[in-house]
Amino acid sequence: MPTINLNIPAGAFNPAFLPFLDTMGRYEIFYGGAGSGKSRFAAQKNIIKACRQRRKILVVRKVGRTLRDSVFAEIREVLTAWGLAEYCNVNKTDMTIELPNGSLFLFKGADDPEKIKSIQGLTDIWIEEATELTKADFTQLDLRLRAVKDPQLILTFNPVNVTHWIKKHFFDQDRGATILKTTYQDNRFLDPGYRELLENLKEEDFYFYQVYALGEWGTLGELILTNYVIEEYDTNPEYYKNVHSGLDFGFTMPAALCQIGERDGDLYVLDELYRAKLTNQELIDAVEALDHVKDYPIVADSAEPDRIKEFQQRGFKVTGAKKGKGYKKYAIDTLRRRKIHIHPRFVNFKNEIGAWQYKKTADGTVLEEPVEFNDHLMDALIYATEHLRAGPRKVKVGRFPGYW
Ligand SMILES: Nc1ncnc2c1ncn2[C@@H]1O[C@H](COP(=O)(O)OP(=O)(O)OP(=O)(O)O)[C@@H](O)[C@H]1O
Ligand SMILES: [Mg+2]
Repeated sequence: MPTINLNIPAGAFNPAFLPFLDTMGRYEIFYGGAGSGKSRFAAQKNIIKACRQRRKILVVRKVGRTLRDSVFAEIREVLTAWGLAEYCNVNKTDMTIELPNGSLFLFKGADDPEKIKSIQGLTDIWIEEATELTKADFTQLDLRLRAVKDPQLILTFNPVNVTHWIKKHFFDQDRGATILKTTYQDNRFLDPGYRELLENLKEEDFYFYQVYALGEWGTLGELILTNYVIEEYDTNPEYYKNVHSGLDFGFTMPAALCQIGERDGDLYVLDELYRAKLTNQELIDAVEALDHVKDYPIVADSAEPDRIKEFQQRGFKVTGAKKGKGYKKYAIDTLRRRKIHIHPRFVNFKNEIGAWQYKKTADGTVLEEPVEFNDHLMDALIYATEHLRAGPRKVKVGRFPGYW
């Protein structure tokens, strides 16, 4: 078999991570602030392992649906950067990548434990955004690496909450884990705009600054919405009233859409989309690919009329959100009076609502203003529920299916 000589310069790595390239601890934890290079490094390290020996690597996130645009894309990006992609067998449908030496990358959601259980002979697991997993999810994965030579389980995440099980399990007790904390300061490849955004968090909010800029375990402040439950239910909009989607545009920051329906006075999240770096046409394609979104009205951020127009030209029922003075505060008041049901597969929605909080001044006074960070789906939620605040309905009865 021909040999591929892979020569990767040290400059391809961030120096903080380099000492961890060859370490083979059973548990390796790369945590810290946003944009520090954790995910990129985990991809690099796993690829190098897979090149050196025949490995079978499972890459996991909580929700299977989120794999394609994150970890699958990340692994492919590194393979391309290193000139390896052309030698690999990349199956986009099944999301598998086979290296010429037989090493294999598989991508699965922890929300589908049966699929994970059926995989034999794993040598490695990389859990991306590990704080999304429950401890039971983790235990299941850990068991998959029993009785294997040189097994390795890598966890990457932001330290979102000091009460998290990962903190108790790996930080408050000695499990022999290798732990590296990094922040944006450790990433020489970071976009300068993103660096500035993280530094500005210092003025904006202590919690987000703590977690995403400093990479420290967060202590949450005053949460805006706590009236929600995470549970399974049927997300087909046919079973709900007043179905609307809210759409918040983005590019560097993700574009976010959530579809909300009503039943017995409660609000139900029926779909979500959360993707960065999409052109408007790509975003329209992505929204079109969602099962039931195009059939129902969408209320979008009115700051971007051109984008709204392009959606309308593609046959979407989109209007611009009415934002008036103090609309957010009013919106929050109405949202607090409803119970919000969140299906566990809407992991981005769950993450945002769980950390959406009020600004706090340095002396600890809580202001009545939400922190403007990681709130894209919360903005979308506000748009999607505009009709709740509209008094007499502005949309004619029967104009759109599902609206009465
Ligand atoms: N070694 C590298 N070579 C080239 N680009 C890199 C490298 N490391 C990081 N980057 C780039 O820096 C950005 C942030 O890196 P990455 O996504 O790995 O950060 P992260 O720590 O996982 O962030 P988050 O906590 O938000 O998930 C990405 O755009 C990534 O491509
Ligand atoms: Mg990451």
